[in-house]
Amino acid sequence: MTTLASAAAPATDPMLSDFLGLFSQAFLAGELLRLVLSNYQGADPELQRLQIRPVEIKGELQLSFLSQNRTFDTTKNYPLHEAIQWLQQGISSDFRSALLETQSLEVQLSVSKKGKILLNKRKTSNNKAQAVLAHNKEKHRYVEQSRPYLQALGITDAQGQIIPSMSKKWKQINKFIEVLQKAISQTGLAEQQAVHVADFGSGKAYLTFAVFDYLTTILGLKAQVTGVELRQPLVDLCNNTAKKLALNGLQFEQGDVKHFKARGINVMIALHACDTATDYAIDMGIRTGAEIIMCSPCCHKELRPQLLSPPVLSPLLVHGIHAGQQAEMLTDGLRALLLEAYGYDTQVFEFISLEHTSKNKMILAVKRKKTKDNKAVLAQIAELKAFYGIQHHCLETLLQTAEPTS
Ligand SMILES: C[S@@+](CC[C@H](N)C(=O)[O-])C[C@H]1O[C@@H](n2cnc3c(N)ncnc32)[C@H](O)[C@@H]1O
Repeated sequence: MTTLASAAAPATDPMLSDFLGLFSQAFLAGELLRLVLSNYQGADPELQRLQIRPVEIKGELQLSFLSQNRTFDTTKNYPLHEAIQWLQQGISSDFRSALLETQSLEVQLSVSKKGKILLNKRKTSNNKAQAVLAHNKEKHRYVEQSRPYLQALGITDAQGQIIPSMSKKWKQINKFIEVLQKAISQTGLAEQQAVHVADFGSGKAYLTFAVFDYLTTILGLKAQVTGVELRQPLVDLCNNTAKKLALNGLQFEQGDVKHFKARGINVMIALHACDTATDYAIDMGIRTGAEIIMCSPCCHKELRPQLLSPPVLSPLLVHGIHAGQQAEMLTDGLRALLLEAYGYDTQVFEFISLEHTSKNKMILAVKRKKTKDNKAVLAQIAELKAFYGIQHHCLETLLQTAEPTS
């Protein structure tokens, strides 16, 4: 796609002005469905079609330009004035056909061989408008389906469609970026020059790639994202993919979160890291002063053998599943309280619903801007431990040499 900087002088053709006027009016009135440019005659050997839709970015309505290329699609978002500037040049010189669809009107623009512009207007059928609106809504996910990394990781196919067996992962990626976006909005990170992220137990790194893409493409930040993973083959695989996609700033290192040394991390992520690996990651996040800590714990093994539940609960806890649920609630509840005590506003909530995965809990901690007295929280932790007879909780032990910052 021609870059915006190369877009030239405004259109003088009255038909094109009329067409772009209808486009702007529909966008500003919230009635734009889409604009599709086709019959490409320009110099880019990859580009075939361009689809333009309204999209909300950080609360501001913009236009998303989806370039449909021969190999993979790309997307860029522009404010209206920049989009118009580009369209004035792009239509007629590069694209010989454009279809504007609004909630009430369809306008077909065609450019003859001699360069004459013709318009054909007709009313949009209600069914069509509904279908396009539904499609646009689908596109209003937090992650754009056309992003190249999704194809490289096998989430989408060559046509940019979600591969059915990856639909749960696709939903998880979107939910994750939604949570991250809200957390970032509570910090000053979006205004920083550069953001450092560590993802512990990155595995196949679907979420690591999604974070990098979100920070660099949507927020336009300079991001340094490091995935830390025990298994060397996965590290190699992910580094190769990042290299192939030229994602400078995204890298993977082989390492054990238990021994990893990190400094200057803004966002600490540990998703589905087994058992106490989550505690080591949280400890590192707190020590490095991360503004955001996001964990989705799994395999809660540490507390269950220590639990001394009161006799009144024994008819419930005779069922192993209940004992497991209780240990899980206590482990994550104590993690959340410890994060509170060490200066974070913390929430525990469903990450994605049970029908998608059983690993469905998220602990989200955002560093508090103002200090708060933490004596009451420390007392609650002590009380809970005494009630259940807990002798040791990995995160608490790890934090013992760190100062509760409140
Ligand atoms: C269930 S996968 C989760 C992958 C990814 N975070 C996600 O949510 O899609 C857990 C990953 O953590 C890695 N892992 C487990 N313990 C670890 C440790 N102590 N240090 C680093 N990685 C670890 C495993 O090898 C595995 O790839």
